[in-house]
Amino acid sequence: MRAALEAASDAPGYPQTYGTPAVRSAVADWFARRRGVPGLDPDGVLPTIGSKEFVAWLPTLLGLRPGDLVVHPEAAYPTYDIGARLAGATPVPADGTAQVGPAAGSVRLVWLNSPGNPTGRVLGWEHLAKVVAWARSIGAVVASDECYAELPWECGEIPSILDPRVCGGSHDGLLAVYSLSKQSNLAGYRAAFAAGDPHLVRELLEVRKHAGMMVPWPVQEALRAALADDGHVAAQKARYRARREILRAALEHAGFRIDHSEAGLYLWATRDEPCWDTVAWFAKAGILVAPGTFYGAAGVRHVRVALTTTDERAEAFGARLARA
Ligand SMILES: Cc1ncc(COP(=O)(O)O)c(C=O)c1O
Repeated sequence: MRAALEAASDAPGYPQTYGTPAVRSAVADWFARRRGVPGLDPDGVLPTIGSKEFVAWLPTLLGLRPGDLVVHPEAAYPTYDIGARLAGATPVPADGTAQVGPAAGSVRLVWLNSPGNPTGRVLGWEHLAKVVAWARSIGAVVASDECYAELPWECGEIPSILDPRVCGGSHDGLLAVYSLSKQSNLAGYRAAFAAGDPHLVRELLEVRKHAGMMVPWPVQEALRAALADDGHVAAQKARYRARREILRAALEHAGFRIDHSEAGLYLWATRDEPCWDTVAWFAKAGILVAPGTFYGAAGVRHVRVALTTTDERAEAFGARLARA
C-alpha cells in the first residue's frame, strides 16, 4: 500500500471524484472475491474520504430535510445520528422495522451496521432481506455499513446487503459502505468506498463533485493495491484474534458477560450494572473502556472494550484485571 502511494505521488492534477476506472473495477472484483457479490457494476462504485464523511453527509447528499426520518441501529456508531441532524432530518434508533410503526412513510434512509459497532452483532440474510423489502415498499434507501466484515470470530459468513440472497439480484436503492481503516489498518489514509445502485451513485457523484469530496489519487492507488491483496488482511485479523482471546478471557474471569461480539473490533461487556460504574471500576484498574451510553440509550448497562491495542497492552489488561 505504501509502495502504491509512493509510486503515485507525482500527482499535480485534480483526482477524479468518481475514482479511476481501475479503482472502481478493483472494488467490483473485491466484492465478487470477498463478499459474495458477483457482477457488481463498476458504475455503482464511489470512493470516499474514509467512510465517516460519507456516513455524516449521506442524508444531506440525498437531499433529506426536516420531517424526513433516518433509521439507525439502537446501539450505534454516533455518526448515523449526527448525519441525520446535519441534514435537519430526525434520527430514529430502531433495530426492527416494526418499531418504526406508522411513521414509516417519512423514512427516507435506513442505516444498517453489520457487524455492528459497538455490539459486534451480525445480521443474517433473512433479517437483511426483510429490511430491504420493507425499505423498498416505502421508497427508502438502505445504506449498510459493513466496515467490520473481514473480522468474523464466532459466526459464519457475514452477508453483504448487495448479496443476491439478500437483495434478489437488484441493487436498486441499496448502498454498501466499506472502509480500509479496519481490515488494512489504514485509517490514516482515509481510504473507503460506497457501492451499489449506479443511479444513486451518479446522483451522489454530481453533488460530491461540486462539494470537492475527492479522494487523492495516490490514496486511490493505495486502495487499489490493498483490495488486490488478501494476505495482509489475514495477518491483521490474526493479530486481532490473539488480542481478542486475551481480553475476552480476562473479562469473563472478572465476571463480565460478553453479549454479541461475534465479529468486529469490540467486546460488548456487561456486569448488569450502570455503565458508568463499570467505567469507574476499570479506571481504578488503570484501564480505559467506553461507556455504552456513548452509543445510545440501549448501551446503558454495557461497556465497549476495543481490540485496537498492542499485544503488550492486551497482556497488561489481563494482568490488571486479574489484580482488580
Ligand atoms: C461503524 C463504523 N462506521 C464507520 C467508521 C468510520 O471509519 P473510517 O472513517 O475510518 O472509514 C467507523 C469507525 O470507527 C465505524 O465504527
